[in-house]
Amino acid sequence: MHFNVKSGSPEKQRGACLVVGVHEPRHLSDAAKALDAASDGALTAIVRRGDHDGQAGETLMLHNLPGLACERVLLVGLGKKGEFHDAAYRRACATAASALDKSGATEAISYLADLPLKGRDIYWKASQAVVASASACYRFDETKSKKEAPKRPLKKLTLALAERSAVPEGERGLRDGQAIANGMALAQRLGNLPGNICTPNFLAEQARALGKAHCKLKVDVLEEKDMEKLGMGALLAVARGSRQPAKLIVMHYKGAARDERPVVLVGKGVTFDSGGISLKPGAAMDEMKFDMCGAAGVMGTLQACCELELPLNLVVIVPATENLPDGLATKPGDVVTSMSGQTIEILNTDAEGRLVLCDALSYAARFEPALIVDVATLTGACVVALGKHASGLLGNHEPLIHALLKAGQSSGDRAWQMPLWEEYQEQLKSNFADMANIGGPQAGTITAACFLSRFTKDQHWAHLDIAGVAWNQGDKKGATGRPVPLLTRFLLDRVAG
Ligand code: BES
Ligand code: MN
Ligand code: ZN
Repeated sequence: MHFNVKSGSPEKQRGACLVVGVHEPRHLSDAAKALDAASDGALTAIVRRGDHDGQAGETLMLHNLPGLACERVLLVGLGKKGEFHDAAYRRACATAASALDKSGATEAISYLADLPLKGRDIYWKASQAVVASASACYRFDETKSKKEAPKRPLKKLTLALAERSAVPEGERGLRDGQAIANGMALAQRLGNLPGNICTPNFLAEQARALGKAHCKLKVDVLEEKDMEKLGMGALLAVARGSRQPAKLIVMHYKGAARDERPVVLVGKGVTFDSGGISLKPGAAMDEMKFDMCGAAGVMGTLQACCELELPLNLVVIVPATENLPDGLATKPGDVVTSMSGQTIEILNTDAEGRLVLCDALSYAARFEPALIVDVATLTGACVVALGKHASGLLGNHEPLIHALLKAGQSSGDRAWQMPLWEEYQEQLKSNFADMANIGGPQAGTITAACFLSRFTKDQHWAHLDIAGVAWNQGDKKGATGRPVPLLTRFLLDRVAG
């Protein structure tokens, strides 16, 4: 979808469709009032009749209103004025975009970004409008033989602002929003592709393709023999049960001076998690194709950085493997040595995420990072604790955690901090190795993070558990593109200083 920004009053706009908001109950927004005046009270008459009373999530398409130069007007319900906050604004943008997409109007001019919203400026409203609209129109049909796309989808959405002076800020928001939306779409595509297509090698090829498309990006792919030389016994222990060779994908984006320390993002890239010998139950096991959504999220974020040419250095590391129970697979009780030299007793082969991440985190140290954030669909316990609304956030550096929480808040892709207290470390004790890879039934998200913390002691590090937020279940089953908005916002805030 193509977006742009312009200024001008609603009643003067020509074109296929104008989008204006209505608050509940039947309270016209400023833009709607302007159309109402120009059409001799047509909108007032319609809401009076009860055809649309402004409920959130509702839309009404009107055709050929008298006195207006546009073909259609789409009324969008905003809900009650007193409850019109960030989430309601996003919802209105998304509702409008999906209604337009189905309507046959291929172009539209929306006045939603001009609505007053407490504490939010034009930049924020424009970027959020783009992300919400693009996400609402996202479809995945690559693996269907018959495409189900609308015949006349929405192609161009113009964000209209009453004040001409607001246009530059609107354009800046549009640009950032578009990069975030594109990053999300990449993350969604990689997540949605099935495990037989999206293999570790496929992820490596996608990374190489990104590298070809952006001149500031260099991509290295380490093979299993390279990982053996590095002593990555934990990552390789997971890969043993699979016939697909593991890959360690390393992407370097150079947007700042050589000597500026990079931000390192590490994404769990388990392209299918069967549990290994500690096999998972059958129900919903298909959803374990989404176990590479950490990888997808950091790759989507990297793409957004490239597109925006952000002035920073960024290294993205993806340990990619399947977790399967082949004859050579790692068994419960096996002890392996990680790259750090620490030994691990693998009591449950289904706790594989931390095993691939720990070696990737050790590897990250060689880039002398300013900070490391790892992103992983790491624990079912996180879904129990936070559900689908927030990512779990843990780490060893409060300013970093604070910055990530803030980025989550402003992007709407929220995270929630959990404690990483020393007391929890005890749960990882093993009689046979330096640590076990599981910490028992209590506080599963925290003990997983405790495990990772042992490999990032000398770094400023944070961990995002995205198990609950990375994909939707049920009839909307599919990748969400999270946490691309949070991570990209974090990096945008960082370069803005
Ligand atoms: N990929 C899963 C975590 C997961 C499960 C994410 C369900 C989303 C939904 C991870 O590899 C895993 O299996 N974790 C185990 C850890 C346990 C064995 C300590 C889990 O959460 O059950
Ligand atoms: Mn697992
Ligand atoms: Zn997993």
